[in-house]
Amino acid sequence: MTYKISDDFPVLNQMVNGHRLVYLDSAATSMRPVQVLGAIDEFYKRAGANPHRGLYDLAQRSTEAYDGSRAVVASFVGADFEETIFTRNASESLNLVAYSYAPLVLTKGSNIVIPISEHHSNLVPWQVLGRQYGAQLRYLYVDRRTGEIPDSEIEQKIDKNTKIVAFAHVSNVLGGLFPLAKLVAAAKAVGAITILDCAQSIPHMKLDLHALDVDFAAFSGHKMYGPMGIGVLYGKRKLLEQMPPFLFGGDMIEDVREQETDFLPPPSKFEAGTQNGGGAVGLAAATKYIESVGWAAIEVHERALMRRLVEGLKSTKNVTVIGSTDTAAPRYGVAAFNVNEVHPHDAATILNDFGVAIRAGKHCAHPLLSYLDVEFNACCRASLGIYNTAEDVDALLEYLPEVRRRMNLGD
Ligand SMILES: Cc1ncc(COP(=O)(O)O)c(C=O)c1O
Repeated sequence: MTYKISDDFPVLNQMVNGHRLVYLDSAATSMRPVQVLGAIDEFYKRAGANPHRGLYDLAQRSTEAYDGSRAVVASFVGADFEETIFTRNASESLNLVAYSYAPLVLTKGSNIVIPISEHHSNLVPWQVLGRQYGAQLRYLYVDRRTGEIPDSEIEQKIDKNTKIVAFAHVSNVLGGLFPLAKLVAAAKAVGAITILDCAQSIPHMKLDLHALDVDFAAFSGHKMYGPMGIGVLYGKRKLLEQMPPFLFGGDMIEDVREQETDFLPPPSKFEAGTQNGGGAVGLAAATKYIESVGWAAIEVHERALMRRLVEGLKSTKNVTVIGSTDTAAPRYGVAAFNVNEVHPHDAATILNDFGVAIRAGKHCAHPLLSYLDVEFNACCRASLGIYNTAEDVDALLEYLPEVRRRMNLGD
């Protein structure tokens, strides 16, 4: 028998409703290989004590595992150890910047610029903080046909009053790559900082945050084959040093007196309370797993699968693809679509009867779906991971016509 990547992912090897499970929802959460599960198991079996707190052997092992994991994750994204803060997920990372950094720069009359396609985790914090400090929230409207941000939007929206430009590297609905270099250059030209939400790009491409020159970046472990409950905020050291802590409590403290406290430097300053040791170890193992498969192999495999998926969706009768239908323009991980006249929840439920797991709804991107004006103001989304195969894509395409038949709408 030949080795398949999916063999490393025991959860994928099961039947659902009498069919082979076809998991096409990795953009929501990707599954974990045995290498990650084993590393977490090993941490709790061999160490499992509180990191940074004890002098006995088990505690030292936990400390080494936790700090060692940070070093591994930092190097995976081209960052320094001190710039890599463990959080619960990308949402918490983005909230940390919003609550801790934004008050240092937002004033009445200033503005924050984000694409209309942002996930709520990179949108609602800016609405709330913007309102609190009298800053305007401005949107970069994407081209409805291509899903791209036109240069004119960047030129018009980012101005001398812009303090923050926050954007996804890859939108969780549109799937294309946003023009990072242009956005960074436009922000720099007016002295604004940039925040990159790389939750959707990180499992699909090699990132070097220093080279990309963003000021902050956020991602989640559970979208890159790691466990749930661990994420990362990257921040340039000088900015992290300026920022006050977001949460207070154990392990971020240098010294506490009755009325005053000194905090540790970053990253500890932003990690109050007992750390997620198992999560950090699992995330580090996930980065090693990705590297063991290799970026070149991942990119070739995923690009071919995505092309097959988008071509297949385009040629399926009564299916409308959302965003770019140009298969020459790379899409990363996600393909959103609708089966005409069928609510996406019905489509996803019917596909589940055939063992096919896709996501359906508004994808935490309500403003984008309203702006795109798609049927039902919602859509289906198939998303790919390292373990998906051509057979998985073909299973979706095979069962898709069943959706309208089951709804008595014909082919
Ligand atoms: C682009 C993007 N940003 C942020 C998030 C939030 O991730 P989490 O739920 O892990 O905080 C998601 C989740 O789907 C996402 O797709």
